[in-house]
Amino acid sequence: MASDQHEDGISNPQRRTLFKAIGAAGVATAGAGLLPGCGRRSHSNAQNLSFEEIPHGLDYRHHIPKGYEADLLLRWGDPLAADAAAFDPQRLTPSEQSRRFGYNNDFIAFMPLDQRAGPGEGDLHCQSNNSERGLLCVNHEYTQPHLMFSGYNDEYSATRGVSAEHVAIEQQACGHSIVEIEKTADGWQVLQDSPYNRRISLTTAMDIVGPAAGDERLVTRADASGRQVFGTVGNCAGGKTPWGTVLIAEEGFGGAFQGDPDNVADPREARNHHAFGIEAGNRNWGDHDPRFDIAVEPNEPNRFGWMVEYDPYDPESKPRKLTGLGRFEHEGFTLVSKPGQPIVAYGGDDDEHQFVYRFVSKHTYQPGESAHNRALLTEGTLYAGRFNEDGSGHWLPLVYGEGPLTGDNGFRNQADVLIDCRRAAKLLGATPMDRPEDVETNPVNDCTYVMLTKNKKRSADELNAANPRPRNSAGHVVEIVPPGRFGERDHASTEFKWNTFLLGGNPNAENPNERGAYGQQHPGNISAHGWFANPDNVAFDPKGNMWIATDGCESFGFHDGLWAMATEGEMRAAPKHFFGCPEGAEICGPEFTPDGKTLFVSVQHPADGGRSTFDNPMHRWPDNDPTLPPRPSVLAIRSKDGKEIGS
Ligand code: FEO
Ligand code: CA
Ligand code: CA
Ligand code: CA
Repeated sequence: MASDQHEDGISNPQRRTLFKAIGAAGVATAGAGLLPGCGRRSHSNAQNLSFEEIPHGLDYRHHIPKGYEADLLLRWGDPLAADAAAFDPQRLTPSEQSRRFGYNNDFIAFMPLDQRAGPGEGDLHCQSNNSERGLLCVNHEYTQPHLMFSGYNDEYSATRGVSAEHVAIEQQACGHSIVEIEKTADGWQVLQDSPYNRRISLTTAMDIVGPAAGDERLVTRADASGRQVFGTVGNCAGGKTPWGTVLIAEEGFGGAFQGDPDNVADPREARNHHAFGIEAGNRNWGDHDPRFDIAVEPNEPNRFGWMVEYDPYDPESKPRKLTGLGRFEHEGFTLVSKPGQPIVAYGGDDDEHQFVYRFVSKHTYQPGESAHNRALLTEGTLYAGRFNEDGSGHWLPLVYGEGPLTGDNGFRNQADVLIDCRRAAKLLGATPMDRPEDVETNPVNDCTYVMLTKNKKRSADELNAANPRPRNSAGHVVEIVPPGRFGERDHASTEFKWNTFLLGGNPNAENPNERGAYGQQHPGNISAHGWFANPDNVAFDPKGNMWIATDGCESFGFHDGLWAMATEGEMRAAPKHFFGCPEGAEICGPEFTPDGKTLFVSVQHPADGGRSTFDNPMHRWPDNDPTLPPRPSVLAIRSKDGKEIGS
C-alpha cells in the first residue's frame, strides 16, 4: 500500500473543489484540507466500519444499528449500596442521593478489574485488560432542579427559588460515581453491593497540590492552608492514566457561584470572577451554602476550575486537585504515555476564543513504579497552543518570569500564572479557538485531535486558519501532527504541524461558511446521514477509528449522537452514523472496553428544552413510566454476535 497515498491528494479534483469552496468563504488557506494525513499510511482499519448506518432522526428513543443491543446500565438515582431501596424521586434526601448514581452523566472511564487483586491494589488492576469486569467511573456535570424535583413551573425558574434541601441534594448529585460492573450472559450489570462503589460529590474532602497549592488566593475562612477543599463541580470530561488513576475536569464551575464580582474588594479577583461567568443571577446555592456566595468567600471560586486526579481502585483514596494543569473551564485532559519519556497531556478550555493546552511532565514515565508515576502530574510545564497560518504550530510555555508573564502584567508568581491561565495564554499569543472540547490522541497513528464545538461569537475579522468560519455554528476538528516518523512522534516537542481534519455541518449547505467538509480525498464517501455538527467528546477504538460524540445537532434538525470514521486511508474523515439520542439529550462518554466489544455512552439531559419539567416532561426516557421523570443514563452497547463495535 502506498505509504504517502493522500500526500498527493491536492491533485484530486474533489479536494480541489473543497479547497476552492472554503477559499471562496474568505477562509485562510492552511487549515482547510491542504495537509491531510497524520500516519501517512493506510491502515487496515480504514474499511472495517461495516455496521449498517442509522438515519438522522429525532424522537423520544435512542437508536442503535441493526445487530446491536444496548443495556440500560445506570440511571440517575440507581442504588449503589447493598441496602439502598429502588429509586423514588419523591422521597429523595441528600443522604439518599449520596449513595445513588448522580445526575447528568458525562465522561466515562472503564477501569478493568484484575480478578486476583482487591481494593487498594490499583497497581495490579491497571495492568489488566479484563473487558468483562471493571469499574465504571462516571462524571456528573451539573444538576437541573426543574427536571429533578416536582413543583417547578418551567425550566426558566430552575436556577432560582431552590430550597436548602434541594441544594443539598443537588450537591450530592454532582461530582462523580465509581460503580463495579460485570458482563453476564444477560448483558452488563451493576454490582450494587461492591466495596468499590463510591460517590464523589461537593462534600468530598480533597487536597490541592502543585505549584498554586497554599497560595494566598486559595485561602478561605474555612481553610487557612489553601490546600484543602470540599468537592468538585462542573465535571465534564476527563482522562485516564496508565498508573490506574482517573482525571476529572472542572468545567462550568462559575455557574455554581453567585454574587456581583464588582463588589469584591480585590479588583484582580473581580476580573477573574467575571471571566468565568460569576454573576448575581446565577443559581442561588449561595443563599443556602455561603461558600458559593462570592460576597462571603471571594476566594472560593479559585479552588475550582482545576483537573482532579483520584484512584478508583482505592475507595478510601483522597482526590487531588492538580494546579499544575492550570485553571480554566477544563473539558478534560488526556495522556500520551511512553515508557522512559515525559508524560504529555492535552486539554482544552471550553469557552469561546479560549485555548488548547498541553502539559509536559518534568520526570519520565516508568511503568510499574507507582509512587514515582503518581507524582508525574504535579511537576512540569503547561503550554498553550499557537496554530500558525501556514500549518505549523508551537507550544508556548506558561512560566512565571518569562516573556510577558511578569509583575508588569500583574503576575506575582507561578500561582498567579496558573490561576489566571487564560490571561497568561492570551498575553503569550496563543490562538483563540472555537470552544475546545475533548483533545485526545489516536493510539494507533499517534496524532492528536481537537474537537472544536462551535463559536457563534467569532466575527469575520477574527478569523484565523485554525478557526476559519465566522459565527461558527457547526464546529470542526483539527489534527495535530507532532514531529517524528509515524509511530514514534515526539509529543514533548514545542513544534508541531496541524491541519483541518473535517468541518462540521451539512456538506450541501448553500452558505460556504456553514458547509461541512468530510473525507477530503473522497467527499462522496459519506451518506446523507454521515454528516454532523458540534463535535464534543471523542474516543478511539482499538483499531484507531475515531468516534465523535456531538452536542448541538438538534439545532440542525436531528438528534445528537455518535459518528465513527477512519483517520487514515481512503475513508479518512468520512463519518458513519452509529447512535442517536432521545430528544433533548446530548451524548457524552464514549468509552470502549479494552477488547473493543463494548461501547459505553452517557445520555445527558434527556427531555431537556422547551418547557419540559419533572411534572410535565417532553418524554420520560428511558423508563417511560408515568411515575418517573426522564433520567440521564449510561448505556452499554454490544454487538449481538459478540464482534468488535463497528466492525
Ligand atoms: Fe461540558 Fe465542554 O462540554
Ligand atoms: Ca463536553
Ligand atoms: Ca474522550
Ligand atoms: Ca456538552
